[in-house]
Amino acid sequence: MKTAEHDVLVIGAGGAGLRAAIEASAAGVSVGLVTKSLLGKAHTVMAEGGIAAALANVDERDDWKTHFADTMRGGQYVNNPTMAELHAREAPARVRELEAWGAVFDRTPDQRILQRNFGGHKYPRLAHVGDRTGLEMIRTLQDHGIHLGIDVQMECTVTRLLTDGNRVIGAFAYEREQGRFRLFRASSVVLATGGIGRAFRITSNSWEYTGDGHALAYEAGADLIDMEYVQFHPTGMVWPPSVRGILVTEGVRGEGGVLRNSEGRRFMFDDIPDLYRTQTADDEEEGWRYTQGDKEARRPPELLTRDHVARCIVREIREGRGSPHGGVFLDIAWIRERLKDSESHIRRKLPSMYHQFMELAGIDITKEPMEVGPTTHYVMGGVRVDGETQMSAVDGLFAAGECAGGLHGANRLGGNSLSDLLVFGKRAGEHAARFARANPRSAPDGAEREQVAAAEQDALAPLERQEAGGSGVGAYQIQSELQDLMQTRVGIVRNQEEIEEGLEGVLALRDRADSVAASGNRAYNPGWHTALDLPNLLLVSEAVARTAAERKESRGAHFREDYPAKSERWGKTTLVVRKGSGGGMELAEEAVTSPRDDLLRIIEENR
Ligand code: FUM
Repeated sequence: MKTAEHDVLVIGAGGAGLRAAIEASAAGVSVGLVTKSLLGKAHTVMAEGGIAAALANVDERDDWKTHFADTMRGGQYVNNPTMAELHAREAPARVRELEAWGAVFDRTPDQRILQRNFGGHKYPRLAHVGDRTGLEMIRTLQDHGIHLGIDVQMECTVTRLLTDGNRVIGAFAYEREQGRFRLFRASSVVLATGGIGRAFRITSNSWEYTGDGHALAYEAGADLIDMEYVQFHPTGMVWPPSVRGILVTEGVRGEGGVLRNSEGRRFMFDDIPDLYRTQTADDEEEGWRYTQGDKEARRPPELLTRDHVARCIVREIREGRGSPHGGVFLDIAWIRERLKDSESHIRRKLPSMYHQFMELAGIDITKEPMEVGPTTHYVMGGVRVDGETQMSAVDGLFAAGECAGGLHGANRLGGNSLSDLLVFGKRAGEHAARFARANPRSAPDGAEREQVAAAEQDALAPLERQEAGGSGVGAYQIQSELQDLMQTRVGIVRNQEEIEEGLEGVLALRDRADSVAASGNRAYNPGWHTALDLPNLLLVSEAVARTAAERKESRGAHFREDYPAKSERWGKTTLVVRKGSGGGMELAEEAVTSPRDDLLRIIEENR
């Protein structure tokens, strides 16, 4: 087994992992960066429409306080207020830093970074590069990081964290290509593994997103919070079937795209939530003026928060007003009525969307509407961390980005993920380096050897079952059944009976997964890799189902048709998931952290 030693080990190389590795490396410690996939292939690129930061380049009224208040309102006030404050305060500096490192942004006429409208943001706040912002972020971070001496291991999947008491000391992994095992010794570890989207059938997430960081942290003794809040992005492709779930950026709506049902009606005007009533336009003219940057106009209803827009789309489809392939229509072509050069405008602002629909669906979005429907995009829940340092309950174990919980509360605003990755990736890297310096790991001992041996045994088990002529339950079959179960029982609209069916189903699949067998050997074996991802997917699915069953109210992305209102009691409660002493999953209720008085005043002033 190849062994590496680092002061800081970062697991995951999307925006948060790269930013953490850069910061730790700049602090002068040795850094290893392990990624399950190829460098540059991260869900970060699916945040297409922009990075939210109160630069105030397009509307000078914007500031960190408004961004903070918008984030809290979007998260339905169950966010970690320290994280929401730091995020809003520090995002502008992180964006300017990215620009200094070479990121190319679209520009205002006077050459400042251009910002566009997005759902739930009071002012145009999203710094963007057409509809390729996440891609540009990853490119820039890679270019910058590559010179810093970070030791990068691609296509290497971590299956277990190694601990010494309540202290993390390393990780066990396998190389996807040849199946060789790897041991990483480290004084601190940063988890930046992204989300859990592959637990659902329709998703914008690619194969990597199986809840690895969530599961690794849980198994090592950390808490997970807010797991009931799964974000269904309102607009994914619905047709043809092979591309179902691929993201259609919110930037389309930010540029003036409108949602219509089969009757041609803009149904988003039908239901404006109280929290947003004063900010939302009630006629088409006013909504368009806002899209064009009129400071006095109110926002179009298509730019309400994602949880709400996704539910309105589901309502239209369920009530028979959907599009032919089970979505609704998203129309940007209509802006030709307002803009002379609409065609080149759309192609300039939304080049990827133009290309995506042209190549994959044969639709010219400058001329025709798209068919779209909700797609699983993001999980607000994750590893509970200290709001300033990002350290979890396990000493030396940090988490940043999507796999960390707290910042977004019950619903994330679009664009707040890219800024989250930068702000908290940096913080995690800085504090992980500091921890590693102050607490170097001790020499390897018997406990490490035992954990490594157990990890090896677990990793080989699916192959050995097959060799022993085992029952041959296939990992793909179980993954597929799980995705259907989560999609239909613990999806956008939930009720007690279905969630319980979902939970029962997950537990039954977990039992079957114990006898999963993988044919072939350790080289180039995706069936084996899928078998090794399964326990993580099942674990996070169980956490989502258990918390969803427990929270008897509707809040943000968690919508219960049997409890459609928000409740005061649940608004004060965070659900914490942890491993119980008997080895099973336990749920605890804890009080939501109340914001400081000055932050409460900011929230009030921005109501
Ligand atoms: O729609 C989008 O461009 C996605 C952005 C995000 O998730 O932040």
